[in-house]
Amino acid sequence: MKSQKDAFFSIPDIDSYIDKVMGSGNLVTHYNNGKLIGFVAFYCNDETMKHAFVSLIVVSPEMRNTGISCSLLETVVFMAKRKGMEKVRLEVKKNNHRAFGFYEKHGFKVNSQTEISYIMELPI
Ligand SMILES: CC(C)(COP(=O)(O)OP(=O)(O)OC[C@H]1O[C@@H](n2cnc3c(N)ncnc32)[C@H](O)[C@@H]1OP(=O)(O)O)[C@@H](O)C(=O)NCCC(=O)NCCS
Repeated sequence: MKSQKDAFFSIPDIDSYIDKVMGSGNLVTHYNNGKLIGFVAFYCNDETMKHAFVSLIVVSPEMRNTGISCSLLETVVFMAKRKGMEKVRLEVKKNNHRAFGFYEKHGFKVNSQTEISYIMELPI
């Protein structure tokens, strides 16, 4: 994931981000014919609160609404349960209507909010 030339997502410092996720988090990827078409980065290391945290989930535009995002999220829930987590949390920008709808469809509820984003939770 070093080159962002043809990437369907943009992260300011992709190498640092990947290093951070691979250090203490989890990265689940979905490939189609050797091409990365989606991934989810998440953490399952809050042993005190037992909250998993989805840092980022992205599916390439042409592969949205195909169930890949659903499968990535199901993997998060599966792995979080296996690691003894009791909730999955995430933050979504208030203007990201599609992502908000996607999380709502999968049972996430708004727990709190900032000026620009919602914190959503799913008990697992
Ligand atoms: C968020 C993301 C992974 C969801 O994957 P997806 O394949 O688009 O999700 P789905 O199509 O299954 O679900 C989207 C849901 O959002 C809603 N939705 C779709 N388009 C919408 C729109 N324009 N406005 C509002 N809601 C919308 C619908 O409820 C839809 O569910 P439906 O199947 O009942 O119609 C994907 O859209 C993505 O990669 N987005 C860019 C990156 C991103 O924003 N990530 C989240 C950061 S928090």
